Amino acid sequence: MKTLSQTKSRGWRRSWSFVAATTGATIGLGNLWKFSYLAGENGGAAFIIVYLVCILLVAMPVMIAEIVLGSRGRSNPITTVQDVSLEAGVSTWWQGIGWFGCFAGLLVLSYYSVIAGWSFAYISKLFAGDFDATSAQLAGDQFNAFLAEPQSMLEWQGLFLLIIFLTIAVGIRRGIGLLARLLMPLLFVTLIALAVYSSQVGDFQAAVNFMFTPDFSSLTRQGVLAALGHAFFTLSIGVGAMIAYGAYVPDKRSITSMVSVVVVADTLVSLLAGLAIFPLVFSLNIAPAMGPGLMFVAVPYGFGNMIYGNYYGALFFLMVSLAAITSGVALMEPATSWLSERLRWWRPVAALMVVAIVWLLGLASVFSFNEWKGISIAGMSIFSALDFFTANILLPAGGLLTAIFVGWKMRREVLRDELYVEGRVLFSLWYWVLRYIAAPGVLVVFLSSFLKEWV
Ligand code: PFF
Repeated sequence: MKTLSQTKSRGWRRSWSFVAATTGATIGLGNLWKFSYLAGENGGAAFIIVYLVCILLVAMPVMIAEIVLGSRGRSNPITTVQDVSLEAGVSTWWQGIGWFGCFAGLLVLSYYSVIAGWSFAYISKLFAGDFDATSAQLAGDQFNAFLAEPQSMLEWQGLFLLIIFLTIAVGIRRGIGLLARLLMPLLFVTLIALAVYSSQVGDFQAAVNFMFTPDFSSLTRQGVLAALGHAFFTLSIGVGAMIAYGAYVPDKRSITSMVSVVVVADTLVSLLAGLAIFPLVFSLNIAPAMGPGLMFVAVPYGFGNMIYGNYYGALFFLMVSLAAITSGVALMEPATSWLSERLRWWRPVAALMVVAIVWLLGLASVFSFNEWKGISIAGMSIFSALDFFTANILLPAGGLLTAIFVGWKMRREVLRDELYVEGRVLFSLWYWVLRYIAAPGVLVVFLSSFLKEWV
């Protein structure tokens, strides 16, 4: 009997192409902008340790599960889960995982595109020398002035979405491969250079203590939830993106090895970004818990006081923007591929539709920094509420459903068939961790954070 994946094959032929594209999908604003501000808000090392544990025991097994699922179905996430549920003989209601993912992905992209727009704007600001010889105070004032003005934020966000639209319209295989392969090595080199520079001009010792000497008393239940949510966010799971990318996984290659490379690269980039940003933060007396503006104040200050820093700074934000593009594409891929495969829309039209919806949704985030500043949802601005709700609730919930579906509903032989290159021990280890640690782990964190709020 032919397996599902043999009947619909459409993949990258080489492991490296798949690894490069997937690394591109995972490394983005989450590593460069969000990781440092979350670590800053949640006390540093203790948060980072819990985050690393969540990556290893929860997010990575779920990422493998998503890719296995995608590789089995070789289609968009909704059709994939539907086909695989038929194969497994369970209800096709499980395709809800795909629907849920498309919806969550668009919500994430609505605010992600706003931050990517900030990064675009900062390329031109640094290049123009706006931060030359600035002080931390001035860099902060400039950031606040930028947020107060919706028009330019809307324009930059629009430009970001236009670029994503063009990339996705030509298809992720062609659109992303080259960009990711060039960008990732460059990003590593720039981050290492920046970390070395800021270790010299900033307070490196304080940064290392903050990032690596844990004080667990500073970590709240909400901090643990944020660490779990960020593990999902940074590996791009829980939104169907990895199911969509799994559809392109090359045959006869070890999925676990490819995923391991991606996870190591992603984690290194986050840690390097922290080592680049925190020395500056501590030498400037910026509060590490200042929130989403952390990177947009510390980094311009660092570059603004360096010879030729305006060019290096512009390059840094260019790289942040490119990393955001490769991730933004991954966020859009599930919905776009569904429209184009299931409804048979021409791919550019499908992509345009998705971008238009995201842009409209994004208005709420843009205005939450200025015109709608007064509106608060559960004590948070619209932007923060969206960020909290998607990263800390929707993504882990999507991942939990995937872990249950793959770990408990799909047949073991089918999974073994997709992971046949893996040795028996490795396969059993992954399967066991997915069933008994990853899925219950998400539930425990959910219950412990929400029960406390509700009871
Ligand atoms: N992992 C991306 C980042 O760290 O910036 C964010 C992301 C991309 C989340 C794609 C989800 C996704 F599907």
